Amino acid sequence: MTTQTKLEVSDLVKHFGGGLSLMRKRRPSVQAVRGITLKVIAGEILGVVGESGCGKSTLAKMLVGLDQPSEGTIQLDGNDLVGANGKVNLKQHARRVQYIFQDPISSLNPRKTIRDILSAPLIYLQGLSAEQRQSRLEELMTQVNLRPEFLERYPHEFSGGQAQRIGVARALAAEADVLILDEPVSALDVSVQAQVLNLFKDLRESLHLTYVFISHDLGVVRNFCDRVAVMYLGRVVEEGPVEAIFSQPRHPYTQRLLDSVPGQLVRKLPAEDDAVELPDPMHPPVGCAFAARCPVATAECRQSDPELDALATGHRVACYHPLSPPDANNHD
Ligand SMILES: Nc1ncnc2c1ncn2[C@@H]1O[C@H](COP(=O)(O)OP(=O)(O)O)[C@@H](O)[C@H]1O
Ligand code: SF4
Ligand SMILES: [Mg+2]
Repeated sequence: MTTQTKLEVSDLVKHFGGGLSLMRKRRPSVQAVRGITLKVIAGEILGVVGESGCGKSTLAKMLVGLDQPSEGTIQLDGNDLVGANGKVNLKQHARRVQYIFQDPISSLNPRKTIRDILSAPLIYLQGLSAEQRQSRLEELMTQVNLRPEFLERYPHEFSGGQAQRIGVARALAAEADVLILDEPVSALDVSVQAQVLNLFKDLRESLHLTYVFISHDLGVVRNFCDRVAVMYLGRVVEEGPVEAIFSQPRHPYTQRLLDSVPGQLVRKLPAEDDAVELPDPMHPPVGCAFAARCPVATAECRQSDPELDALATGHRVACYHPLSPPDANNHD
């Protein structure tokens, strides 16, 4: 695989709300993303994992231009999608980076046929003639394993798995080369999930696509992704090749996530107290956001937030006291 950078995110921040109310009272601000710096390599599948509410979808929406960052930049192939002045380059976004939604049917306009839905980007983004469109529509349907007759149907006539294929065809119609897959199979029956994931894999090979794959299903992430970024309260706390993250997790939060996966052979952390308080995105703590839940936290951890530092080739962790690799631990 090449190591050319496809997407590059620098110091990305997103807060919602804030400012003053009509009564001149300060409104609460939610810090959904609190400074993310991340590269996505061309052709790879980068998994993004973390508990609900940690900012995965907010990150995803900024990557496709649906949300404007409060701070930071996003580059695609070295060109600004969001520049230092906060300006969003919508034209680039609309074409090249596309969002695949969790709920495939409701992401398609119920009043339009599949032909209309897929034709829109062919007309408005690519200016294809009627004849060119017809052959491109047939090609798109074949690429996502759907029969071209389905073009005349409406979204409600499709199963979830089929609707997800149409969502992919719509992204391909825009000539996207990066797909942001936000829990793309979570709403599908287990029996259909593997089919859709295999389609994603095949399309990545044949069309040289790059994916950011957001999922809470760590089993799927392990099988599907090349690298993984672990998020906690709006930050990436660990990032690395999938095998390193799963077999040698170094951040206590990553270990905590893996503890809940059946069949995971690495060591476990002591069980968590049910009464433990989760951090509040409206009032993030001063130091490491995981400190209240961390069995190895020290005073230092509560004073400042650790940077995401490289440990070994390609493996980064934001922790003052990273866990030792499990093999070394066996001698304890
Ligand atoms: N449009 C919004 N307005 C206010 N708060 C939001 C908005 N979108 C997300 N949030 C908040 O930002 C945080 C991150 O949410 P989200 O990115 O959806 O997390 P995830 O996808 O990881 O579950 C949550 O606390 C959520 O409540
Ligand atoms: S920085 Fe400290 S509190 Fe945070 S995860 Fe590491 S050891 Fe735990
Ligand atoms: Mg989400």
